[in-house]
Amino acid sequence: MEKEKLELNDLADAILPWYYTHQRELPWRQDRDAYHIWVSEIMLQQTRVEAVKGYYNRFMEALPTVADLANASDARLSKLWEGLGYYSRVRNLHKAAQVIMEKHQGVFPKEYEEIIALPGIGPYTAGAVCSIAFNQKTPAVDGNVLRLWSRLTNDFRAVDQPAFRKDATAALKAIYPQNAGDFTQALMELGATVCGPDKAPDCGRCPCASFCKAHQLGTAQELPVRLPKKQRRIEYKTVFVLHAKDLYAISKRPAKGLLAGMWQFPNTDGFLSPTEAVDYLQKQNIRVENITKEVERTHIFTHIQWNMRCYYLDVGGVLPNLHWRTLEQIRSEEALPTAFRIFLPDEKQAPA
Ligand code: ADE
Repeated sequence: MEKEKLELNDLADAILPWYYTHQRELPWRQDRDAYHIWVSEIMLQQTRVEAVKGYYNRFMEALPTVADLANASDARLSKLWEGLGYYSRVRNLHKAAQVIMEKHQGVFPKEYEEIIALPGIGPYTAGAVCSIAFNQKTPAVDGNVLRLWSRLTNDFRAVDQPAFRKDATAALKAIYPQNAGDFTQALMELGATVCGPDKAPDCGRCPCASFCKAHQLGTAQELPVRLPKKQRRIEYKTVFVLHAKDLYAISKRPAKGLLAGMWQFPNTDGFLSPTEAVDYLQKQNIRVENITKEVERTHIFTHIQWNMRCYYLDVGGVLPNLHWRTLEQIRSEEALPTAFRIFLPDEKQAPA
């Protein structure tokens, strides 16, 4: 078919040939196994492809089957997820794997309604798994596809409004081809690369240029439109890296809330001065011998920003109400989220 004669209804004819020649080689594209597709799609939510690759490979090596995931300990899962963020994702993976073992005899369900009923799976992931693993005509509309669709249709409504996603999903569903899984991935791939987020769209290389409304009207750079971002709440924290002998103190975060149940360096709300920090620790029966270093760092979560002041302190004695570990143990065994890991002393520079 002549490229010029294509229109939006022929989207699949335009992007499937492009996908077959231009797709990136990614670890989760080696087969159509539902477990592989599911885990990769969960990891890819809010996380860049390049960051996910290593995590995905390690995860599959450690837990090659749904049964392995269902039987894994929380500590092992937290460690495998360490640094990826949004830790509720891995807790939901764990719960869903247990449901698959109990309700589906360990076999990943094929029906959209069964898949979307699993913990942590919404319309996007259910659509992706159903189409990629089982070749069903179920759109998976993520940020990449929303951006692509807003340009193809020159739609200036905010893409983060539910109505936009609903309309895009319905319109795509009506034009899904037989190769449903490839179409899902082709849409994401084009949105992630040529019709990309970080640079101006590369319309010269786009298989849709001849029928893309925004390209024809010269508006591609103005799309997609997004609702204004809500301001993040800023919180101030003082973090303590307590050091005694060759051990460092960590503690468990509460079971509910931000970074629930993860490890942390002990910390308190607000910015404390060095004197206030020493007083505060004294009240917890921690005797400070020496402040060796002070640094300030910021960590950004979706809705909150932590401005953190961290004191490195030599303390007298290993207190029983904290957990004491060597640097090597913290590094290799415990899951310390990035918000705290940034303060982990460098082995070479660690205070003697
Ligand atoms: N982003 C979300 N899902 C993806 C996938 N399967 N491949 C590449 N990027 C993605």
